[in-house]
Amino acid sequence: MLADRDAVWGYVLGTRDSARFEQLCEREWFAQLRQRYPMPAADDQSRDARMQRLIHTGYRADADLAAWPAHLHIDLLPPVQGKGWGRHLLRIFLDRLLELDVSGVHLLTGPSNPRAMAFYRRAGFVPVKSTANVIAYGMRLRP
Ligand SMILES: CC(C)(COP(=O)(O)OP(=O)(O)OC[C@H]1O[C@@H](n2cnc3c(N)ncnc32)[C@H](O)[C@@H]1OP(=O)(O)O)[C@@H](O)C(=O)NCCC(=O)NCCS
Repeated sequence: MLADRDAVWGYVLGTRDSARFEQLCEREWFAQLRQRYPMPAADDQSRDARMQRLIHTGYRADADLAAWPAHLHIDLLPPVQGKGWGRHLLRIFLDRLLELDVSGVHLLTGPSNPRAMAFYRRAGFVPVKSTANVIAYGMRLRP
């Protein structure tokens, strides 16, 4: 987490094992949340309804990305972008994966986010799978 006394400015988070994370999400989280937040009406386009639909979609680890078992998310607010903090947060996350002897890591972004694509390429990620809206980038951490 990137924070000072006034605010949280950004974060990096993820999992070392996406397949295990999927199982844990279903067992510990989504099953209970689906009871509490039923599927909203199809014409309900409120933010709450969109979030509730995501609960019912759940998380599915992509088997095509199993060779890069960890995955991550990184986001910084605009005032702290472009100052090296993203690279710093990413390094902390990758160092932890190396300590845990994880073989690889992936993340998802899209062609609508060229800044993120440039950032990941600069960090050493390479595109490993793409669809019209989503590009998966991967990085091997050991042979
Ligand atoms: C994408 C993001 C995490 C990058 O973090 P950042 O702190 O802005 O990036 P850094 O300052 O650490 O940049 C590291 C390297 O990435 C590259 N980079 C970053 N932004 C770039 C841009 N707009 N164009 C080209 N290269 C860029 C630079 O080459 C830089 O290396 P250099 O200093 O050797 O030139 C951050 O901008 C962000 O959170 N953006 C909004 C949310 C988002 O898009 N998250 C990712 C969702 S998939």
